[in-house]
Amino acid sequence: MNFFLRYFTEYNNMSGWTTVETLYVIWLFVQFQYRYLHKVDGAIGEIGVHRGKLTSYLYLMRHRNKQQKLFAVDVFARKSLNIDASGDGDRNEFLQNIKHYANVSADELIIYEGSSLDLNSLLSNNNEAQRFWSKKLGEKSCQLVSIDGGHTNLLTYSDLCLISSSLVDGGIVMADDIDNPEWLGVRDGVAQFLAETSVVFSENHDPELAVALNKRLTRPNFNLSCRIVEATRKITNIKPECPRLIPVLHYANKLYLATPNYYPHYIEFLNKLNDKGTRCIRYDTLRSTAGNVPIWSDSRKKRPEIFDQIVKPLWLAELVKATQ
Ligand SMILES: C[S@@+](CC[C@H](N)C(=O)[O-])C[C@H]1O[C@@H](n2cnc3c(N)ncnc32)[C@H](O)[C@@H]1O
Repeated sequence: MNFFLRYFTEYNNMSGWTTVETLYVIWLFVQFQYRYLHKVDGAIGEIGVHRGKLTSYLYLMRHRNKQQKLFAVDVFARKSLNIDASGDGDRNEFLQNIKHYANVSADELIIYEGSSLDLNSLLSNNNEAQRFWSKKLGEKSCQLVSIDGGHTNLLTYSDLCLISSSLVDGGIVMADDIDNPEWLGVRDGVAQFLAETSVVFSENHDPELAVALNKRLTRPNFNLSCRIVEATRKITNIKPECPRLIPVLHYANKLYLATPNYYPHYIEFLNKLNDKGTRCIRYDTLRSTAGNVPIWSDSRKKRPEIFDQIVKPLWLAELVKATQ
């Protein structure tokens, strides 16, 4: 059974909000992590799984050595904890879907049923939940995480802090609904996280770099990116429990963030992709919603048609070949 084929064949019948463009980007990041960074054993999971549409795909991305832990966090039936009514998690349907689409059963999973806020020791006194989480997951163990639970400012901020403290160096976190005007809490939560963990870049930090960035001629290559990381580093991190992450890509309503040491690697990787004709990802300076560092960003006007006509057919062919 090719579970990828099943997933894509039945994709439109599943309840959820994931786009195929997001699946494409996740595939790119995962291939980069496995093939170039040789990171193959960090946990994969999602906060806010709903019925498992995106989670199934994330689990399908598990390296074939099957060393990676898989996790899911959702309030599920405890609806009163879903304070902004984002989605409608259902544990049974979730478990059925991940079995059907990713061949993962409940006993292979770390599941926390409750608010993700419980897991954050900075913001909650739920010691039992926090002990459960750290015992099951271990320290610095996550490699690929989707944050798509409660969409308020506080929950987004809390989830980013929680995952930043659990991420392996080189891991990737994605925050959903960064562009959605109905869920502005996400943007605010991300902005708060970035403001607390990074310095906003200004000319005084590195005048030469400022000239290069202002000209917008220079692509954010590896060396330039290293300088950006250094120039925007906070001298003292007031919350060491909440380490820094830097946005690398803003694409199809999601913001992807990396650990500072690997920000230059991811930027360089996306740079090369762009050269290969993946034109839907282009360099842009990040708007004020997410700090003040260069990242890759989609060209919204052109993205859908370029994606459907050029990128998607090539990618699906590659994916089918790789997963046969
Ligand atoms: C937008 S849906 C997730 C969609 C899913 N990621 C997908 O792509 O199909 C949001 C989910 O977050 C869950 N949720 C809401 N508040 C939460 C919280 N505080 N902690 C954990 N999960 C929460 C909801 O139950 C719902 O399943």
